[in-house]
Amino acid sequence: MTYSRIIGTGGYLPEKILTNAELEKLVDTSDQWIFERTGIRSRHLAAEDQDTCDLAEEAARRALAAAQCDAHQLDLIIVATTTPDRVFPSTACLLQARLGNHGAMAFDVQAVCSGFLYALSIADKFIKTGTVRRALIVGAEIFSRLVDWTDRSTCVLFGDGAGAVVVEASAEQGILSSHLHADGAYKDLLTVPARVTQGRLNGDGFTKMQGNEVFKFAVRALSRVVDEALTANQLDQSAIDWLVPHQANIRIIAATAKKLKLPMEKVIVTVSGHGNTSAASVPLALDVAVRDGRIQRGQMLLLEAVGGGFTWGAVLVKF
Ligand code: ACO
Repeated sequence: MTYSRIIGTGGYLPEKILTNAELEKLVDTSDQWIFERTGIRSRHLAAEDQDTCDLAEEAARRALAAAQCDAHQLDLIIVATTTPDRVFPSTACLLQARLGNHGAMAFDVQAVCSGFLYALSIADKFIKTGTVRRALIVGAEIFSRLVDWTDRSTCVLFGDGAGAVVVEASAEQGILSSHLHADGAYKDLLTVPARVTQGRLNGDGFTKMQGNEVFKFAVRALSRVVDEALTANQLDQSAIDWLVPHQANIRIIAATAKKLKLPMEKVIVTVSGHGNTSAASVPLALDVAVRDGRIQRGQMLLLEAVGGGFTWGAVLVKF
């Protein structure tokens, strides 16, 4: 049996930090309101001259270094992003050119906050069928460019960043299973409704969100999908060493941990300093906990995410 094993992780956060105190000067809000409702204290913002590919490249180079893998050894590059640099080519192709890889498959995945889990699962399938030996999977976002900085109900939530993993075919256990879902019936609860036509942006290019409805859906969907992942592997909650959740809101994270009967000490939480970085949030959180030594080889990780679409999913990984 061939598994996909994560052999290196990397992350990158832009230098500029925007604190809740600074947001108080932009919109009618307070550090107390933001922290109590979301768990966020600050987020990183890309510089004017930084593109999503710049963030992706930093995270990718760190993951490749950790994996001791040269870019030319990659057979597959996937970038999960909602904020690509161009309509086309894909950010994955732009990244491929930066890394000096020629010939690997390269494409983007658009599943908003669940994008990294979708991309990881796709790479796993390619590896399991023997088509691919090594893959680079990146979640990278400059979500701050989709945010209306006069809308207090959304601008306090998001941040920019990138996270990456390198996965390799292995006889040792790695990704055990992935469970992905979507329901387009919820398309209007969280959306940027604009389209590009005749060389122009047509419609509203800012993030629109019915926060309360998104919150309720996220808690329900994540509770179900983590159960699904455990049942599929005939595992009990006690088998999970670390929950690595999408970092949108500490209350959503805590609800999922409670469902799993996991103490918060076994949950990787970065939302306080990162905000919601959409497709970058899970790989960034993973990288933080691998580098600070909490996540160790051989441990069982449960990754989960939910995002616009709606899309949602969970991936169970023996690290
Ligand atoms: N500062 C101060 N007050 C605010 C702010 C703000 N930044 N934003 C909204 N308010 C006000 C509202 O106007 C409202 O005032 P009112 O009672 O006078 O009308 C009040 O606070 C309560 O607003 P609610 O929207 O009901 O607040 P809620 O407790 O639902 O928290 C939040 C809002 C944090 C957005 C929450 O609904 C949430 O986290 N939802 C999930 C959204 C999310 O995570 N989206 C990310 C993408 S999807 C995903 O990743 C899961």
